[in-house]
Amino acid sequence: MSTSITLEKRYLQPFISSGDINKYMSRVQEVHHQLLQRSGTGNQFLGWLSLPNDTAIDLQEHLSATGNRLAKQSEVVVVVGIGGSYLGARAVIDALSPYFSTTKGQKGNPEIVYAGNHLSENYLFELIQYIKDKEYSIIVISKSGTTTEPAIAFRILRAHCEQKYGIEGSKERIVAITDRDKGALKNLSEKAGYATYEIPDDVGGRYSVLTPVGLLPIAVAGFSIKNLLDGARQMQQQLCHTNNFEQNIGMQYALFRYLLYQLYGKKIELMVAYEPKMFYFIEWFKQLFGESEGKALKGIFPAGAIFSTDLHSLGQYIQEGERTLFETVISIGEGTQKLPIPHDLQNIDKLNYLTHHSIDHINHLAEEGTCTAHADGGVPCLRLLISHISEHTLGELIYFFEYSCALSGYLLKVNPFDQPGVEAYKKNMFALLGKK
Ligand code: PA5
Repeated sequence: MSTSITLEKRYLQPFISSGDINKYMSRVQEVHHQLLQRSGTGNQFLGWLSLPNDTAIDLQEHLSATGNRLAKQSEVVVVVGIGGSYLGARAVIDALSPYFSTTKGQKGNPEIVYAGNHLSENYLFELIQYIKDKEYSIIVISKSGTTTEPAIAFRILRAHCEQKYGIEGSKERIVAITDRDKGALKNLSEKAGYATYEIPDDVGGRYSVLTPVGLLPIAVAGFSIKNLLDGARQMQQQLCHTNNFEQNIGMQYALFRYLLYQLYGKKIELMVAYEPKMFYFIEWFKQLFGESEGKALKGIFPAGAIFSTDLHSLGQYIQEGERTLFETVISIGEGTQKLPIPHDLQNIDKLNYLTHHSIDHINHLAEEGTCTAHADGGVPCLRLLISHISEHTLGELIYFFEYSCALSGYLLKVNPFDQPGVEAYKKNMFALLGKK
């Protein structure tokens, strides 16, 4: 079954030769096999591979019903979590939400805000000020149940919630998503009697967007988790059912990145979108690839940019700085909103030549012009073409990146499912705090 996503290599061709591809093709086929046979390192964390099929209809309906209930009773829903326990939800919610909404922040259509993904006291203070006179609910997410940032935020929010709604009332307003049987959050939720959802043991944080971790906040925000899973399933069918390189865009993406890194010294991948609402999708991508590949002194550094905004800040470097970059563009087809550029009789700003173009068309021409300029300047450019942003296409993209990321880790001979390096800062912070 074909998906709606195309991987375009027009701006890559001058860099990677078919000889390179032929030489390494069997290697990517090997790691594809390794992934599907579950014979690679970290194979106890491959639950995400089958999530699109394994997420039972009952669970989907339960999550939708809980999402509805929280939405109906709340003007604001606070999602508490960090890393993989928040980025996937935020990526999808931001990508699907309108830029401006006059109805957001009302019961039935709550504003979704986030906490626990940093340690800013100012932020938490202002958050409490912001929600104290509003109706709110809390979704707290932590697989380990012991991560400091969300734990501190949740302690503060829970105390406020209990003060505002009472111990009994808060049970209606707090939902926890955590491990099935261990961790402080699990113990606390059981004791307090909060509704809980489990994060499967075999799904790591950054691969968890298609579990309740991502699905519940996405449902609260009013989006279809069924369509998201359908999109992911369609991509799964395309990627997992063929190791034919020509037909498998996930294998192609993983191999192109690997060749750019190994043969051409491209150490940084800049993920780009020309639609600002994709900002958090790119943040999600950065975490997925950064934590999966960056170990054993290896790995492509995942960076992100929104164009044309960042062409006016990073553009100079991309065009003429160190030649260690390549670019991947999530290229989105024509938008639905139309806003013509008006004809102006005086034409002092000299923009009348644009009035027969839509702004969207100008944006696409900016994209074409930029890809050509960057490729000419020595920055290879891959493009993932999607027709529009929807739950379905985001589901496809999510599965595409997860699969390609796993292959990329295996190509580099690292375990794509652990993150030992994240412990270093915690160790120092706990020592400084005198934690026993
Ligand atoms: O990918 C990962 O495993 C991490 O980024 C985690 O998601 C992140 O550290 C949060 O962990 P937890 O959900 O245990 O609070």
